Amino acid sequence: MAYTVFKLTDYSASTLLKTFADAKLAFGDGMREVKSEAEWKVFRDLWMARKNGILTQINDQFKKAPKEAKREFGQHLNELKQYVESEIDGRHKFSEDGSGQLAVQFESVDISLPGVRRPIGAEHPVIKTSNEMVRVFQKLGYSVADGPVVETDYYNFEALNFPPNHPARDTQDTLFISGQEGKAQRERLLLRTHTSPVQIRTMEKMRPPIRIVIPGTVHRNDPADASHSPMFHQIEGLAVDTNITFGDLKGTLDHAMKEFFGSSVKTSFRPSFFPFTEPSAEMFVSCFICGGSGKRGAEPCRPCKQTGWIEILGCGMVDPNVFEFVKDNGYDPRKVSGFAFGMGADRIALLKYGVDDIQLFFQGDVRFLQQWA
Ligand code: PHE
Repeated sequence: MAYTVFKLTDYSASTLLKTFADAKLAFGDGMREVKSEAEWKVFRDLWMARKNGILTQINDQFKKAPKEAKREFGQHLNELKQYVESEIDGRHKFSEDGSGQLAVQFESVDISLPGVRRPIGAEHPVIKTSNEMVRVFQKLGYSVADGPVVETDYYNFEALNFPPNHPARDTQDTLFISGQEGKAQRERLLLRTHTSPVQIRTMEKMRPPIRIVIPGTVHRNDPADASHSPMFHQIEGLAVDTNITFGDLKGTLDHAMKEFFGSSVKTSFRPSFFPFTEPSAEMFVSCFICGGSGKRGAEPCRPCKQTGWIEILGCGMVDPNVFEFVKDNGYDPRKVSGFAFGMGADRIALLKYGVDDIQLFFQGDVRFLQQWA
C-alpha cells in the first residue's frame, strides 16, 4: 500500500508518537512487498531519495513545525531515519564474486518451491549381492548369524581343525593384531580370514538342528589388484542335523544357484581340501555369461576363461573333529552330521555386474556406485 506523508496540524506528544509509529509500520509493510532487485531500487528511492523521498518530505514537515514541538519531533525523526537506514543497509551484502558490488537479500520465502532433495543413497552392489544370496537361504528356512571381525586364533583356526603350525594356516595370509607375543596362541587376536569361525560360535550357543547363513567381512594380507582386496565379503552356510548327507549339500546348493543365477545354470562339484570339512569340494556353476559354451559369438568368454564353468564356493561335510570342539552342546559326531559352504560375495558381484576391477567397489566413487541407485 502506498504511503503518503502525514500533514500535521496537531503536534501533541501522543499525535507525534502515533504518526511516527504509523510511518515505521508503513516502511515495514512496503519492505516486505519488495520481490525483486528492480522493485528494491524503487522502494529505496521512495524512502531515501534526497529529492522528495519520504524522509526528505518528513524533514520538510519538521522545518514547518512550531518551535515548542521541534525537540519531540526531531527525536522521532532521528529515530525513524536510523531505523530506515539500518533496515535498508541490512538488506545488502557484498556479493561473493569479489566485485565489491552490493547485492540485495530478500527475506521472503517462496513456499511453493520444491524442497532440497537429499540423496538417500542405495545398497552397495556387494551388499546387494550378499543380501540376495542370504535371501535365497532364508527362503529355505536358514536364519542369519554373525560374529566378530576381530577374532581369536581359537575360533578362526584351532576349533576349525587347523592344528597349531599346520601349513594350511599359511594359505590364509592372516593379519594379526600386534603386540600379543605374551599371550597363549589360541587367545591371540587377528582379523578373521573367513566367516567360518561363526560356525563354532553359533554351535556353542545353539543346539542342533541348525541351519544358518553368515554374511560378513573378512581380511587377508593380499596386495590389492583387480581381483584381490585385503578386505572382502563372504557368505557362509552351515546345516547340522541327524543324517545330513553329501546329497543334501548338493541338492541345497544346486537349488540355491538356480534361484540366484537363473534356472538354466548347472552345478559341478570337484574334490578339494579344507581342514574343517571332510570330504571337501569346490562348486562350479555353468557360466551364466556364455551359457557354458566358453564362447561369446566368435570371441572367447573371459569370465569363465573359455572353460564354460565358474568357481563359486568351497564346501564339504563338517569334519567330525570340528564337532568335537562343541560336543558338549549336543554335537556328538556319532549322532549328528552336517555340511558347510563359503563363498565370496565380491567375486559374485564382479561376475554378476560385469565389473572388471574389485577396487572399484571400495574406492567410494559416487559416479561408479550411482549405477546401482
Ligand atoms: N572358509 C573357506 C574359505 O574361506 C570356505 C569354506 C567354508 C569351505 C565352509 C568349506 C566350508 O576359503
